[in-house]
Amino acid sequence: MAVDLLLGLQWGDEGKGKIVDVLTTSYDVIARFQGGPNAGHTLEFEGNKHVLHTIPSGIFHPKAINLIGNGVVIDPIIFKKEIDNLAPYKIDFTDKLLISKKAHLILPTHRLLDAASEAAKGKAKIGSTLKGIGPTYMDKTGRNGIRVGDILAADWEEKYQRLTKKHLAMLESYDATVEYDLKSMENAFFDSITALRTFKLVDSEQYLIEAQKAGKKILAEGAQGSLLDVDFGTYPFVTSSTTTAAGACTGLGVAPNKIKEVYGIFKAYTTRVGSGPFPTELFDEDGETMGRVGNEFGATTGRSRRCGWIDLVALKYSIHINGVTQLMMMKGDVLSGFKNLKVCVSYNTPEGKMDYFPYNISSGIEPIYEELPGWKEDLTKMTFADEFPSNFQHYIDYLEKALETPIKIVSVGPDRKQTIFR
Ligand code: IMP
Repeated sequence: MAVDLLLGLQWGDEGKGKIVDVLTTSYDVIARFQGGPNAGHTLEFEGNKHVLHTIPSGIFHPKAINLIGNGVVIDPIIFKKEIDNLAPYKIDFTDKLLISKKAHLILPTHRLLDAASEAAKGKAKIGSTLKGIGPTYMDKTGRNGIRVGDILAADWEEKYQRLTKKHLAMLESYDATVEYDLKSMENAFFDSITALRTFKLVDSEQYLIEAQKAGKKILAEGAQGSLLDVDFGTYPFVTSSTTTAAGACTGLGVAPNKIKEVYGIFKAYTTRVGSGPFPTELFDEDGETMGRVGNEFGATTGRSRRCGWIDLVALKYSIHINGVTQLMMMKGDVLSGFKNLKVCVSYNTPEGKMDYFPYNISSGIEPIYEELPGWKEDLTKMTFADEFPSNFQHYIDYLEKALETPIKIVSVGPDRKQTIFR
């Protein structure tokens, strides 16, 4: 059986958690393939609102197996908190949550290094979530990291001490001071390692090979967004993992020819949290309205998100890099009430007009817009596409044509039920 893949096409926060939760009923396994607790996947159903950081978004469904893949970096302290927060749902994690032994661990000192690195950058800071993501992936590629499977070995604490010692020495080299109480961080860390050992730690690629052979339906869940990809994003203002489709191959051990549907999720406008270029960013009342109506605050950090018009240059780029086969448009409801909507179709750059996403979008880029008529109607109570006001339908048709990809799901609110299939 093939593997389907779901990922964000913008700068993250597109609503992946909600859609995975909606789609889970059609899948046997939901597998997270990259990122870590920098992610905040928000799910709303039956009056509950829940934010997941490390645990895949299929955890609330009775049957689906949830797997944290080798490409994910895990902070055991945050993971334990997530598990504790799920207590009211009485989920039996025994067979429902599997963790790759090859996933890397975020140590307390990774978080300190992240803080020091950002502080030392001053105004050029990335706007990291400060969860230790960058330093952990650096240790992974530098072949110094500690993996989940290591916590089962007798010499694990020695390994931990060696790496921590190295980190503390590195910390001294930064042109920034970070206050910390390592002892209390370590107490929480070792408690959570004890908790982590009680979960099923597996060779996740082997599990997925067998699941595929057994005809199980697998959905690979991405985190962050394509424009935060370490290679294809707005470097250096990116995260440290491969957020694009290729990340599912390296982060789960799924072969490229086994991937079938690629679901690309995007918002009807654009948001970004943290620093970095954002050509269609708005600094006016329209941007403020999007942020307020769309409740655009980071699910992990609470920071307000920057808002702007939809950018088709960026979306086309993401669609191509990921091989997107179906689109899902989120938060169309937030745009109700705008008289006109702007859609960025190309960029004016110092080198002339450009209709692709270039090496550098950090300076001198002016978006070129087309305008479409807005709609007034509240979309949030709608349940079928034939209820859509004609201008909203026109917006969808316009995007579908420009992006040359069908929009299969339109989300009109945060709840599971506010999801319209086309
Ligand atoms: P880091 O991955 O925490 O180091 O953050 C690097 C950049 O990616 C920062 O601009 C963050 O704001 C952004 N980022 C990381 N994770 C997410 C996410 O899940 N949603 C949106 N932005 C994110």
